[in-house]
Amino acid sequence: EFTPRVFSGIQPSGGLTLGNYLGAITKFVDMQNAGTHETIYCMVDLHAITVWQDPATLRHNTRELCAGFLASGIDPEKSILINQSQVPEHAQLGWIFNCVARMGWMGRMTQWKDKSGENAEGASLGLFAYPALMAADILVYHATHVPVGDDQKQHLELTRDVATKFNHDYGVDFFPITEPVIEGAATRVMSLRDGTKKMSKSDPVDASRINLTDDADAIAKKFRKAKTDPDPLPGSAAGLEGRPDARNLVNIYAALAGRSVDDVLAEQEGKMFGYFKQELADLAVEKLSPISGEMSRLMQDTSEIDRILSRGAERAREITVPILERVYDIVGM
Ligand code: ADP
Ligand code: NA
Repeated sequence: EFTPRVFSGIQPSGGLTLGNYLGAITKFVDMQNAGTHETIYCMVDLHAITVWQDPATLRHNTRELCAGFLASGIDPEKSILINQSQVPEHAQLGWIFNCVARMGWMGRMTQWKDKSGENAEGASLGLFAYPALMAADILVYHATHVPVGDDQKQHLELTRDVATKFNHDYGVDFFPITEPVIEGAATRVMSLRDGTKKMSKSDPVDASRINLTDDADAIAKKFRKAKTDPDPLPGSAAGLEGRPDARNLVNIYAALAGRSVDDVLAEQEGKMFGYFKQELADLAVEKLSPISGEMSRLMQDTSEIDRILSRGAERAREITVPILERVYDIVGM
């Protein structure tokens, strides 16, 4: 049987957003503190370069992402905190999985279709193969559980398909069939400018997202300008049907407050969004400003971050080196 082990990652392709925080990081912290699983959290820089990243910016963003993890409550004594490129077994197993996964599987990924868009011919080969590397990130630890936002559901299914095909092709019971953990009020935080698109750090429109580094004024302004509709808040979740922008703001409020959507609506029924957005901004500032303060403190001396990541890579490789050796042996290498 497999050791209960959690793995998840975030791309240093921009600054952390409220979507990353509510959809992923708060769950990372909860699973770390529950103490039921070993927890491994990763800055996935190899994934980030599937689209162009300026080198100095990538280096900065990787450290700032690490600061975001630490400031949000990831404890490097309790969790293994790493940068993907410092643990070479991710890329090595990624190659094996490029030879297990099928072209057709990759071509069906909605993230590939969204990100390559009209220009699939001009997209990098890495962007196409991204989900095979993600499967390797997870399976090089024999991770049993992966907390993620809803947008990663399809990639997690592909990870299970890769594990199943490898086990079948080589006649082994080597890789676990990993379970996604997609839970809570904010598994899909949407853009503040378009409630049908997810909030993303790589969205070119800064006003579409709350960044963890935004100050109180920026947070208040972005919520004030967020798209809504002219109707007041309904008394229950059913009243948010067909109102994606309104629903998004209520979901964010509920997730930040740690309350259910129905509980929030019972209290806010009949209020106008002009009022509710102010309440939401105040709550967001209260929750996020300690995190941004701690992030800027950590970024003043990045040598501590670099030390944490080197130590994390050493600990990670105690797990990944023996697993990769066994993979090579199974494959005949
Ligand atoms: P981004 O799209 O912001 O670049 P990543 O691809 O690095 O984010 O995803 C990191 C983690 O954050 C994943 O678990 C992903 O599911 C989660 N996540 C990203 N955006 C959102 C969102 N808008 N709502 C909820 N979770 C999200
Ligand atoms: Na993403």
